[in-house]
Amino acid sequence: MVSSRSIKEHHESSPLLSRSSSSNHSSGYLSLPLNPSHPILASHESVDLEAMSKTQTRSKPMVLLGSAGLALLLICLCAFSTNADAASVARSLIGLEQNAGRLEPRATTSNYSYQRMLANIGGASSTAGGNQVPGVQSGAVIASPSTAGPNYFYSWVRDAALTMKVVISQSTLDRTLVQNYANAEKVHQQNAASSSSGQGEPKFNTDGSLFTGPWGRPQNDSPALRASALIAFAKRIGLTDPFVTGTLYKSDLSAGSVIKTDLEWVSHHWQDSSFDLWEEVQGAHFFTLAVQRRALVDGAKFATSMSDPGAATYYNQQAAAVKTKLQTFWDSGNGYIQAYQGVSGRSGLDCSVMLGALKGWDTTNATAAVDATEFGPASDKVLATHKKYVDSFRSLYAINNNAAAPNAVATGRYQEDVYDGNGTSQGNPWFICTLAAAEVLNTAVSVANARGSLAVTSTSLPFFRQFSSSAAAGTYASGSSQFTTLTSGMKAMANGFVNIVQSHTQSNGSMNEEFSRNTGYNTGARDLTWSYAAFVSNDLASQGKYLVV
Ligand SMILES: *[C@@H]1O[C@H](CO)[C@@H](O)[C@H](O)[C@H]1NC(C)=O
Ligand SMILES: *[C@@H]1O[C@H](CO)[C@@H](O)[C@H](O)[C@H]1NC(C)=O
Ligand SMILES: *[C@@H]1O[C@H](CO)[C@@H](O)[C@H](O)[C@H]1NC(C)=O
Ligand SMILES: *[C@@H]1O[C@H](CO)[C@@H](O)[C@H](O)[C@H]1NC(C)=O
Repeated sequence: MVSSRSIKEHHESSPLLSRSSSSNHSSGYLSLPLNPSHPILASHESVDLEAMSKTQTRSKPMVLLGSAGLALLLICLCAFSTNADAASVARSLIGLEQNAGRLEPRATTSNYSYQRMLANIGGASSTAGGNQVPGVQSGAVIASPSTAGPNYFYSWVRDAALTMKVVISQSTLDRTLVQNYANAEKVHQQNAASSSSGQGEPKFNTDGSLFTGPWGRPQNDSPALRASALIAFAKRIGLTDPFVTGTLYKSDLSAGSVIKTDLEWVSHHWQDSSFDLWEEVQGAHFFTLAVQRRALVDGAKFATSMSDPGAATYYNQQAAAVKTKLQTFWDSGNGYIQAYQGVSGRSGLDCSVMLGALKGWDTTNATAAVDATEFGPASDKVLATHKKYVDSFRSLYAINNNAAAPNAVATGRYQEDVYDGNGTSQGNPWFICTLAAAEVLNTAVSVANARGSLAVTSTSLPFFRQFSSSAAAGTYASGSSQFTTLTSGMKAMANGFVNIVQSHTQSNGSMNEEFSRNTGYNTGARDLTWSYAAFVSNDLASQGKYLVV
């Protein structure tokens, strides 16, 4: 079977923002209590050059060029000499993406990212890149327009759901787009019913048909993420809306409504062995269980609202059992959350734990964010894991120059990774992972501001000592010097991660899946939808806003 899933590695974005739990929303992002009023997508982060990481952004151009390259460059410049953009043509031909010092304002990159996300959705239009996936099923979210080296020209259920969560969380809802997505997923679901992995079927062809080649199946995070996205959509358009009652949720399972089908699958199959979100290893996974729990908890509330109390009771029971199982991923000996069980040859320090924490919390509830039993992104266990995860990349990637904490560095999926974006050699930093490292910090700071306090425990002490060598266990009120020192340090580190990402985008702002560990150049699938969703999600968290649940 699948030799490698290799094959596709994606990453995600993270979400969140809080929204009230009433069922009929007219707007998406809401701030947690003490963070009112930042306009969506208008980030105010100034670029903090001091806090920027010390990573090198690119190798020196001339070193890379060599004489053959120089000759090519000259030819190009001549050939395009009437074109004002000859220099950029030449740059792209030799792979020199951008000048390292230039960082776009965050809002500009966030806006671009949002538009590039839309460009990869069937039938959608965007103001940046138009539509990059002509001819695909309307509403289908394609992982990347890249059709070769590697071929990511498919719709993955996971990437699609994470992307649509960002769309559903916009202040102005593009209902048509989301409804097209829901209809595309209904086709996927119907086709998956004839597959041996059922709703754990991970990816589909661009016309919605089943992908039947060898692959890592099942991937049981997929139906959970899809249910969560569509529950959020249903809450936004109102539970009595005909699209909700007609297509999304009917208590009669045989009616094949989309959310119900997924919740039934998740509640009956979460104990099954499954492939991880990187599509490489089979076992039990923190990320998968974290998003399954989120779907079941929210699904139980949703079922109650939809007058399906028997289902609600069952989903709640299963959610409680998943929560119990999740506790076993805490490795108290090593002081971090293990990403997998039943997988050998890896430390278990993995970007997927950051993503699981970010996608698994109730973004309407700041208390949940700090709850270690729920592995909230601001909890001591997740912060302790964050430090160990980030540290595992400091000396691994040449571009990190072994920069010490509290500098940010480029991070990848996990240190033992050998997937290089097309084949196997050496793993690279990923945009979604470096952004997840930022988003955990931004979420923790935003939550501390909302709660008016910051807790340091013996578990999280090593994390906080990165920012103050005299940090001590205790609870610090906002306004105290400890609170200010620690949250400022976290914010600076978060900005460092984002600066690394921005300094490694291509000259036109585009992001691939990865950037080279040695040269910093983009590599892997171009214009990865999830890279863009991750940028937007982190930008929101930095403003105390999160993807809706
Ligand atoms: C995003 O970009 C589009 C097109 O370039 C522009 O019309 C829109 O005003 C921008 N939005 C923000 C928030 O900058
Ligand atoms: C941005 O540049 C890359 C590399 O040249 C290219 O693959 C991509 O299509 C460009 N995107 C747009 C929107 O022009
Ligand atoms: C991707 O890998 C294939 C198979 O090894 C190879 O033929 C192709 O040249 C590679 N493409 C890129 C862009 O590296
Ligand atoms: C918020 O989270 C806390 C901690 O997990 C939990 O005790 C509380 O019930 C939650 N509140 C709501 C309204 O869900």
